[in-house]
Amino acid sequence: MASPKRSELQERRKAPLATPTDLGKAATGTIAGTLNTLLADVFTLYLKTKNFHWHISGPDFTEYHELLDEQADQIFAMTDVIAERVRKVGGTTLRSIGHIARLQRIADNDADYVDPKDMLAELRDDNLTLVSKLREAHGILDEVNDVASASLIENWIDEGERRVWFLYEITR
Ligand SMILES: [Fe+2]
Repeated sequence: MASPKRSELQERRKAPLATPTDLGKAATGTIAGTLNTLLADVFTLYLKTKNFHWHISGPDFTEYHELLDEQADQIFAMTDVIAERVRKVGGTTLRSIGHIARLQRIADNDADYVDPKDMLAELRDDNLTLVSKLREAHGILDEVNDVASASLIENWIDEGERRVWFLYEITR
């Protein structure tokens, strides 16, 4: 088989990624937009949790270091599932760190030093923000009949509330 010409390859890049779905064009646009924004928040919170896992210090180091690793793993586990939900309904998903930065609603923390208690309080608040964004997304996805995404989100709300609970208990 002859290798494709450069012009053919360029043309192929413009081909739509039109996976069949019964949800309709308007609905899939809403689903992709909602889930991609959520995915940007999840990646942001994942990296911040790892950032604090790496940089936390003090007498409770081991306990906090391990708790944050456990929470980061739980958050990271959401990412592939969210991205693939978008692809399953024919949308396209995040492509880069820059793409995340354009969509994220949870703030980064690039400070050189953060007090351990402040790290935990900030993550508690960020997880609470994520829970409220998940709840908001659940309402939108329910409206456009994406029951599969809504059902996944119900578990992620429960997991998020557990992270908030732990972070709250160790900071009060
Ligand atoms: Fe680690």
